[in-house]
Amino acid sequence: MTKNLLQVKNLTVSTGSEAGKINIVDNISFDIRRGETFVLLGESGSGKSITALSIMRLLPSAIKIDAGEVILNDINLFQLPENKMRGVSGANIGMIFQEPQTSLNPINVNFITSTK
Ligand SMILES: Nc1ncnc2c1ncn2[C@@H]1O[C@H](COP(=O)(O)OP(=O)(O)O)[C@@H](O)[C@H]1O
Ligand SMILES: [Mg+2]
Repeated sequence: MTKNLLQVKNLTVSTGSEAGKINIVDNISFDIRRGETFVLLGESGSGKSITALSIMRLLPSAIKIDAGEVILNDINLFQLPENKMRGVSGANIGMIFQEPQTSLNPINVNFITSTK
């Protein structure tokens, strides 16, 4: 069997306070093997983007990871210091944002200008 490239184990993500906690992602697990195309399908608002943002550690501050692990090539991403995570992002894992507002964010200007 091909080795797992990415493992998401028991990921649980929520927003709100302890008093009024709202579960966004509830204990999901999946593995992606090298060379495999993986599709995460679900209705709007079901938590696909929050799952991807959790893996990338790019969640908005109001949203917290309550439990779970993300292993990329044997590296536990949730245990990496922030500066090491920045090395992994882009080099080993990346995200193409869906929203046009985000895709046209000035932060991406370097990318846009370098493709001319
Ligand atoms: N910044 C946020 N603050 C609070 N709740 C959020 C935020 N972003 C998304 N959510 C909630 O998380 C849930 C999952 O959203 P999302 O992952 O964007 O869904 P999908 O990508 O599957 O359409 C939705 O109920 C949404 O309202
Ligand atoms: Mg989405």
